[in-house]
Amino acid sequence: MRTQVAIIGAGPSGLLLGQLLSRAGIDNLVIERQSPDYVLGRIRAGVLEQVCVDLLDEAGVGERMHREGLVHGGFDMLFKGKRHRIDMFTLTGGKNVMVYGQTEVTRDLMNARMAAGQPIVYNAANVSVHDFDTTHPVVRYETDGAVGKVPHELACDFIAGCDGFHGVCRASVPAQSITEYEKVYPFGWLGILADVPPVSHELIYANTERGFALCSMRSATRSRYYVQCDLGDKVEQWSDDAFWAELRSRLDPQAGEQLVTGPSIEKSIAPLRSFVAEPMRFGRMFLAGDAAHIVPPTGAKGLNLAATDVKYLSSALIEHYREHSAAGIDNYSERCLRRIWKAERFSWWFTSLMHRFPDTGGFGQKVQEAELDYLVHSQAASRALAENYVGLPLNFGD
Ligand code: APR
Ligand code: PHB
Repeated sequence: MRTQVAIIGAGPSGLLLGQLLSRAGIDNLVIERQSPDYVLGRIRAGVLEQVCVDLLDEAGVGERMHREGLVHGGFDMLFKGKRHRIDMFTLTGGKNVMVYGQTEVTRDLMNARMAAGQPIVYNAANVSVHDFDTTHPVVRYETDGAVGKVPHELACDFIAGCDGFHGVCRASVPAQSITEYEKVYPFGWLGILADVPPVSHELIYANTERGFALCSMRSATRSRYYVQCDLGDKVEQWSDDAFWAELRSRLDPQAGEQLVTGPSIEKSIAPLRSFVAEPMRFGRMFLAGDAAHIVPPTGAKGLNLAATDVKYLSSALIEHYREHSAAGIDNYSERCLRRIWKAERFSWWFTSLMHRFPDTGGFGQKVQEAELDYLVHSQAASRALAENYVGLPLNFGD
């Protein structure tokens, strides 16, 4: 078996890359370890930057997003019991974000690939990548057959490692060829999805004595809420009632009164991590999305960064096939990392500003309060927050 680009992983990165390549006439095969239901069962963030929205349009999968997504021109910062609106639209000269769940982005991409008759191999076992330091990379995997596992060998021109943080591609790179930067935070986020109307029409980011809280949404009838929790907490310890009581205690009195509660349809705890692997290209294998970097979810940058990696990678591969130019491929890692580190910085900063840390101490606490007060009352500071939140332009700094 042979293809031009073997894509490992059918998350948003792999599917978007496949879509952009297929539309440019480049043959590709997506190989995924899990089942489609498993992939669609993962609940992740839901804020898309304009750059990401444009890219989904370019990929021809934006129709439902524009119909069902919610355009937001601002969000609230809540601290010391009071809410302050960050008017993103005005502060950035007319930019918004789109609230549309990552699960829905994934579903739209899956449907588009199916409609185009392009294959995805699901439930692939023992996926392994070989010879990416030569001109003839190979991917091996197994699928279920009538009488046991069937081995496959896929020859390709390039391998795209879109296989997430725990994937096989990054793990296959010799340790001396890769540098990893990591920061693990001393708390987690307990998240709940519920079919109740959102407490406010925009997102609320709250810094409170009891810890961080976030009020988000998926639609006018579906809410997504989070509270900062201890790393050792288990989801079973948190009844729905306990969650709602904790969330309400972290809101201002008006929001607390308006909060509509109901049974959870999903509840999970996620650890918070910042992580970057450098470089992102190893001969004829590239890393993209969570395979190369993780941000804590506070800035909602995970999916957006994955989308811009994929934009750079698809352009580089299209340039290679159409113009026989290696420029995009040679620049891929540096171009991505320049953007990634800015989003890493922003996500780390916003996380540090909004959470209670066990070792902050009195001085640190006072500085955090002063920064929040400064942030919402200084136009320059609010603008810096808004500019990063809506996402830096693709050509930033060029
Ligand atoms: N072989 C094949 N597929 C694999 C392997 C493997 N060895 N290991 C992992 N995968 C699959 C996973 O099952 C998953 O479906 O790769 C996919 C990676 O998808 P994501 O983890 O969603 O990563 P990515 O597509 O880069 O999406 C980035 O997801 O985690 C969020 O915040 C992140 O929003 C960002 C987005
Ligand atoms: C979400 O809707 O799940 C969400 C929104 C904003 C964030 C993180 C998560 O910063």
